[in-house]
Amino acid sequence: MKNLSAIILAAGKGTRMKSSLPKVLHRVSGLPMLAYPVNVLKGLKAGNVVVVVGHGADEVRRAFGTTGVGFVLQKEQLGTGHAVMCAMKGLKSVRGDVLILSGDVPLLTAQTVKGLLKLHRAGGKKRPALSLVTTIVDDPKGYGRVVRDEHGAVVRIVEEKDCSVLQKGINEVNAGVYLAEAGFLRSNIAKLGNRNAQGEYYLPDLVELAVGSGRKVKALTHLDANEVMGINNRVELAKANRLLRLRKAEDLMLSGVTIVDPETAYIDSTVKVGADTTIYPGVHITGDTVIGQGCVVEEGVRINGSVIGDSTTIKSHSIVEDSVLGKEVVVGPFARLRPGNSISEGVRIGNFVEVKKTSIGKGSKANHLSYLGDSVIGSGVNIGAGTITCNYDGFSKHTTVIEDGAFIGSDSQLVAPVTVGRGAYVGSGTTVTKDVPPGSLVITRTGEKVIAGWAARKRKKKGKK
Ligand code: UD1
Ligand code: CA
Repeated sequence: MKNLSAIILAAGKGTRMKSSLPKVLHRVSGLPMLAYPVNVLKGLKAGNVVVVVGHGADEVRRAFGTTGVGFVLQKEQLGTGHAVMCAMKGLKSVRGDVLILSGDVPLLTAQTVKGLLKLHRAGGKKRPALSLVTTIVDDPKGYGRVVRDEHGAVVRIVEEKDCSVLQKGINEVNAGVYLAEAGFLRSNIAKLGNRNAQGEYYLPDLVELAVGSGRKVKALTHLDANEVMGINNRVELAKANRLLRLRKAEDLMLSGVTIVDPETAYIDSTVKVGADTTIYPGVHITGDTVIGQGCVVEEGVRINGSVIGDSTTIKSHSIVEDSVLGKEVVVGPFARLRPGNSISEGVRIGNFVEVKKTSIGKGSKANHLSYLGDSVIGSGVNIGAGTITCNYDGFSKHTTVIEDGAFIGSDSQLVAPVTVGRGAYVGSGTTVTKDVPPGSLVITRTGEKVIAGWAARKRKKKGKK
């Protein structure tokens, strides 16, 4: 957007979080809180974006170093007004308007910011020096109260700790979202004082400065207080998580995904899901997961950082981490896919099967009770119940190769490094330690012996019938 720069305030310690992690790095719906205002500004194509960092500056810089934003250090956190004084050093020559957002207001949408811009930029030459977002809340505790004059014009913001008893009763609060004319901001920011209950430079005091110098201040009163809620403690963090979760579920449902119980579908804002996929209750789908169309994700499933092809079913209580699954795969119930798997079309992975760093070719099956680790498995392979790849010799990990069409009988161990050739058979209960040539049978069972009448004789000896 033309003539628009932005500042995001993110230097505060977040004392009320009681955490060693900087507040803005606490995650909301899978992303650090600060990612939300950063993404809003990306969507608006704001020119210069400066993030004010202070507490945990290095950590915040590391987390957002590649997002295209600039950083300004606020060495001492002397208040939101002081933070903007620091930021303006990085925005010396900007023209137009400066949007100021808080790093701890993650539910704010681009739509609201656009509304504020529209209000602020209407009216030609009589434009306001400053516009801000306010909202009405039942419990205004902790927020700055909006004081209006007898004509309804905003004249001042009073912080909770500076409020008179009467002012404490005001339900209209400052949301911490401002739009200021760059020239006004530059020439007035240094005029802020800190003679208040907290000894801080308050950014909202700009309102009084503007009004005092005969400039206009406009307020956009947002009807949904939830959208502009600030997160100061972990109770509010949980509330924001819930609201964003519901927002995400709603977006997905409107795009064609069936979510049986949106309240218990924990789907991060980073996740993509195709149409006609059905998601059952109690699932956690996180990270950069992409789920195709027509899939089924049953109850209790956890999927992280994975790509799931179309028409694939993940049955109840399965875990899929950092893996790529093709289309029409069936996993679970109670299966565990640890990181690093590549599972092709039509594969079946059944109950109590653990798979790690393994590739499995088209149509292969491991239906029950197996461990497949560090393996390269071809297509059309049948892995019998209880098969174990012994990938670890106590020192290092080794690879098991099972070529196309091989059949692994139940309860076999494949001691890696080892290869079972194309179309070979491994008899049930075999411990394979040497490569099996294609098309052959390997079997390590001792011969089976049947002793007729043995049981009856035994019972007689023990005096039992
Ligand atoms: C602030 C507003 C309050 C408003 C509320 C809305 C002030 C003085 N008060 O209060 O009117 O109702 O937001 O959520 O602005 N920060 C810095 N440097 C500092 C201090 C803060 O960068 O020196 C950052 C914080 O990291 C945070 C943001 O500014 O992202 C807001 O600070 P916070 O302490 O949470 O202000 P509130 O008490 O919530
Ligand atoms: Ca806050």
